[in-house]
Amino acid sequence: MSKPCLLVLYGSQTGTAQDTAQRIARQAQRRQLQVRVLPLDNYNVANLISESLVVFVCSTTGQGDPPDNMKIFWRFLFKKSLPVGSLSRLDCAILGLGDSSYPKFNFVAKKLHKRLLQLGASILLPVGLADDQHDLGSDAVIDPWLTSFWEKVFALYPSLADLIPLREDDPLPPTHTFHFLDDVKEKMDGRLRILTEQTVPSQSHPFSARLVSNRRVTDMSHFQDVRHIEFDITGSNIEFAAGDVVMMFPCNTPQDVQQFCQLLRLDPEARFTLRATDNTADTGLFQTRLPQPCTVRHLVESFLDIGAVPRRSFFELLSTFATNEIEQQKLLEFSSAAGQDELHSYCNRPRRTALEVLTDFPHTTAEIKVDYLLDLFPEIQPRSFSIASSLQAHPHRLQILVAVVHYKTKMYKPRRGLCSSWLASMDPAQGEVYVPQWVKKGTLKFPKEKNTPVIMAGPGTGVAPFRSALQERMAEGKNANILFFGCRSETKDFYFRSEWEDMIKTGHLTLITAFSRDQEEKVYVQDRVRENAELLWDLIANRSACIYIAGNAKQMPTSVCNALKELFQQEGGMSSADASQMLTNMERTGQFQSETWS
Ligand code: 2AM
Repeated sequence: MSKPCLLVLYGSQTGTAQDTAQRIARQAQRRQLQVRVLPLDNYNVANLISESLVVFVCSTTGQGDPPDNMKIFWRFLFKKSLPVGSLSRLDCAILGLGDSSYPKFNFVAKKLHKRLLQLGASILLPVGLADDQHDLGSDAVIDPWLTSFWEKVFALYPSLADLIPLREDDPLPPTHTFHFLDDVKEKMDGRLRILTEQTVPSQSHPFSARLVSNRRVTDMSHFQDVRHIEFDITGSNIEFAAGDVVMMFPCNTPQDVQQFCQLLRLDPEARFTLRATDNTADTGLFQTRLPQPCTVRHLVESFLDIGAVPRRSFFELLSTFATNEIEQQKLLEFSSAAGQDELHSYCNRPRRTALEVLTDFPHTTAEIKVDYLLDLFPEIQPRSFSIASSLQAHPHRLQILVAVVHYKTKMYKPRRGLCSSWLASMDPAQGEVYVPQWVKKGTLKFPKEKNTPVIMAGPGTGVAPFRSALQERMAEGKNANILFFGCRSETKDFYFRSEWEDMIKTGHLTLITAFSRDQEEKVYVQDRVRENAELLWDLIANRSACIYIAGNAKQMPTSVCNALKELFQQEGGMSSADASQMLTNMERTGQFQSETWS
């Protein structure tokens, strides 16, 4: 058998599957194998019939859905018209990335496996089921899976034994080259404004929306900083309905950009054009979003994720630049399988950022070659927020509710969420700020039927999609709305209070609050659901009310579901099994929906 060309196809929502796919490609290159790596939707699936060796790396999103960049592939793959046996020439392997705290753990990888078998593909080894909940991260599953994968490949293609693998300490060539321009005369602000005449904004062509306001909605004495943020989307072609989600790209702070450039001895104002050097380069969004030419400042600020906790592959590559022996030893240890516990304690547990790691290895950092920047640092990933307003109430505007992420680890500096702290730091009074964004259909859908009541439980920022729904429903004259809102205290984090009061006055809203810390005993939205069992049962059983839950995916959604099942039993005289079945049926028909985030 001749030597195969390995194809690595991935479906990635937050970049982990992409990183893993690139890691597999690097391992292939070290073994001197030809390799291509692509997001599934950038690959012409019809060509699968002529491929010989493919690895699929797919993550599963919270609700068990495939990531956005494999949705087209997913629809194609499940077409009934695909002939059974059409992939009989294909040898493949499937690596799933998931999180076992969600019910549909690695659902996409498992379903893909079934379907590929049905289409006649040979599956080289059992599906890898990596788990984010594992103490040592997904590598605990991925590493042994990859070892086994290469064994199978080499057994299948004995001719590969002739290839002499590259040495571990030989760096692979960079996937991109930077061509610096001499003329600095033409000043550019580096921001890419997209023509929006005909296009609907998307991940590859986001709309730069102007920030209109950024207002703290929790009391200054409250532990949590929650922001109500408004964007101007005039002329964007962005449309949305209640339940939809806005995606946006955050930036690194100017201080971090400055520090990064100093450490790497880069001139932030230098301009360059970027070229991919070989076909393994998975240029991702750089292709469409990165202005050419671009300044170093803009690249670092808007594209390189220097604030994320770096992965093992980062240390592998960084170690190849080391000239200082002590630094090199440490970096090699972090790159090795034996050093993974140590790396976990150094990086993952305290949530140390890539930038902080660079400051710990200053000699090596100063040696980093600019062409490797895109290999070392993943691209900043977009963040999603439930839209908190409706176009009927706020034409040409899009509003969100953001809890600023802020926590302590053993690191001296508190840890901050990149997007939320960046948004919170922006002051439109200090100059115009633009945020690249686009809108995605959300999972929550509200009833079209005018008289169908809606029951919504949204503690904390979970209230965002319900504010949007209430504004929309009010504009459409849909008055049967019940909102369960929970927060810690009536005086500290009861945001949008006056808006709710206006809706109550006009008869558009029944509001039921749970202030968890205003009294000795904690009171949560699920307690209020129980207390209102009779009213809720009447709306559900007699008026086919729809029920919605949104918010933080810890215990809250399960507790609210339990309260609902209890009330079905109590008011509907059902057994516990029947009550569970009823909720499952309601979920299937869309009468019960939830959107949770962590
Ligand atoms: P707590 O912080 O006092 O525990 C918004 O964050 C509100 O949700 C707060 O009042 C918070 O209460 C509450 N909350 C926390 N955990 C919850 C849970 N498991 N179920 C319902 N509400 C919860």
